[in-house]
Parts: sequence; C-alpha cells; structure tokens
Amino acid sequence: MDIQEIKNRAEREIKSVQNIEELKKISQKYLGKKGEITLVLRSLKDWSEQEKKKNGKIVNQFKKKLLNDIRELEKKFQQEMPKDDTKEWIDITLPGKKNLIGHLHPITQVKREVEDIFERLGFSVVEGPEIETEKYNFDALNIPKDHPARDAWDTFWLKKPEKEKDRLLLRTHTSPVQIRYMEKHNPPLRIVAPGRAFRYEATDASHEINFYQIEGLMVDKEVSVANFKAIIGRFLEMFFKKSVKIRLRPSYFPFTEPSFEIDMSCLVCGGKGCSVCSQRGWLEMGGAGMVHPEVFKSAKLNPKNWQGFAFGLGLDRLTMMKYKIDDVRLLYSGDLRFLKQF
Ligand code: DAH
Repeated sequence: MDIQEIKNRAEREIKSVQNIEELKKISQKYLGKKGEITLVLRSLKDWSEQEKKKNGKIVNQFKKKLLNDIRELEKKFQQEMPKDDTKEWIDITLPGKKNLIGHLHPITQVKREVEDIFERLGFSVVEGPEIETEKYNFDALNIPKDHPARDAWDTFWLKKPEKEKDRLLLRTHTSPVQIRYMEKHNPPLRIVAPGRAFRYEATDASHEINFYQIEGLMVDKEVSVANFKAIIGRFLEMFFKKSVKIRLRPSYFPFTEPSFEIDMSCLVCGGKGCSVCSQRGWLEMGGAGMVHPEVFKSAKLNPKNWQGFAFGLGLDRLTMMKYKIDDVRLLYSGDLRFLKQF
C-alpha cells in the first residue's frame, strides 16, 4: 500500500473540490467505512513494529488533517448555500396567472336594459348615424336656420365635403332618427333610438361633450299625453324597480307642441339636493312632447291623419341615478378603479 500515493491523491482532490456533494464523496472515499485511509489504519496491526512506527504517525496525522480540511470546506460551502427558506423553489400549488376578463361599460349595460324594457312595452329598437346633416339634425325638426332655438344646441360642425349638399355635424341629439325612420316607415309605429350625441360645451358634474340619449317615438291615429305619461312612468318603474316620482314641466321644443321636460326626484340625494341635481332635488331626465305637425310634414306624413308623442332621455343620467354616481365625467374617464365596480 503506497501511503504517499494515497496522501498526494487525496490532497489533490481536496484542493479541486467544487461543492458539498463532491466533498462528501471524497470524505466517503478516504474516511468512510471502507475508505482508503480507514483500510490503511485497519491493516496497521499486520505491519512490522518498525513500519507501524513510521507509517502509523504519518497516516494518523494525515487523517487528522484531512478531517480538518473537510470540516473547514464543509463550513465554507454551507455558508455559501442559501438558507433553506430563501432557496429558490416552485410552489406548484399556486394558482396560475389569470387573464383579466373585462365587462361591459355601465352605460352599455344600462342601454341594453333600457332597450329591453322598451321592447317589452312594444317598441322596436332602431339606430341612426352619429354624423348627421344639418337637414335632419335641425331643419326637418322644425328648427330653421335663423331660429333662436338653434342656440340651445352647441354644435360641432364638420367640414362639408364638396359633393355634399348639406352641412355636416355631429348630431346634437338623437331626434333626427325620428325623421329618418318616418321617411321609410308608415305609422302606426313605436320606436326607440339609442345612441351617442355631442354638444360643444363646458363640462361639469352633469354635462359632457358627448353623451348617450335614447329617443322615443310613438305615432298612431289617436295618441295622447296620457299615453306618454303611462309609458314613461312604467318605464322608470321597471328600470329602477321601484316607484319613482316624476313630473312633467311645461317647456319648449321646436319639434313638439305642447312640450315638456321630464323630471324625476333625484335618487342620489333622495330629493334633498346635491351636485348631480344642482341642489334642486329634481333631475331633468329629458324632454318630450306631442309631435309637431311640421315634423310630420318633413317626413311626408299628413299631420291631419296622425298623432304621436316623442321623447328623448339621457342614458348617462339614467346610469347615474341607478348607480348613484355623482359625476358624469367618471363614466368617460376610463379609470379602471371606477369601472371595475360595475
Ligand atoms: N332632442 C332633445 C334634446 O336633446 C330632447 C327631446 C325633447 C327629444 C323633446 C324629444 C322631444 O323627442 O319630444 O334636448
């Protein structure tokens, strides 16, 4: 047995050890039960007295040194190793990353609900363009060019394309759909026309430059204000799922005669007065009236044969009342903290 050879080899190996696993192997290889040094020591008894003296000391010293080196290296490797709880690990029981699923905007939800209610009341849902002509937005609705009523609608005018006869604008209300529909369909008719409208005006808690309306129109041989009151009362009840106080306030619209504003008791403050209802306790939900004879004429219908009521409601206002939102601008802010609540 070449003790010197074993010693040299062990020293070389211990010098180049890289990690704790390698160290364990070396320890096993030389000092384990059947380790090379262990075997040497065990065979000592078979040696001559002289050899024992000479080699015994060398082997024992080397064993000590080797043990020492191994212990030192073990300490070093253990310090380098991350502690158990900070060690990188994968928790396979963690749920995976979910894709966020969006939902419909509160105004869209309300729009669909309102359409659904009117459909149940016998109305069809129709649509008209957001870019309108001056004729449909104003003239056909009995609002001629120099009529002061045009001032009530602050208009976004568009550049007129060469070939276009009429001036173009972003519709200031959904009322033009009344004309477009009556031009193509004969009464009796019952329609609602939801959609976006635009006004060139300053924004505040209850005004936006674009907003949603729903226009209503019912035309038949005999239609009265009483019919309108019944329909609008029923609608509000179905929408808010409780009895709602409404009042019709005499007003003026060029396309209806007589005309009124539809007010409902403010549900945000319970009628006490707040920023939404401008401290009045009542909130204007829209306008209404009996279709003006001139409007029938614009749609080539004989006003002597037909009667009808029309109304325009603010969908934003309905949304605000339903969810007690006190600033219309929130609806258009795109703020997810707001939108996620619906
Ligand atoms: N178009 C009107 C507006 O935006 C609202 C309106 C009033 C519509 C009376 C109607 C109506 O159909 O009869 O201010």
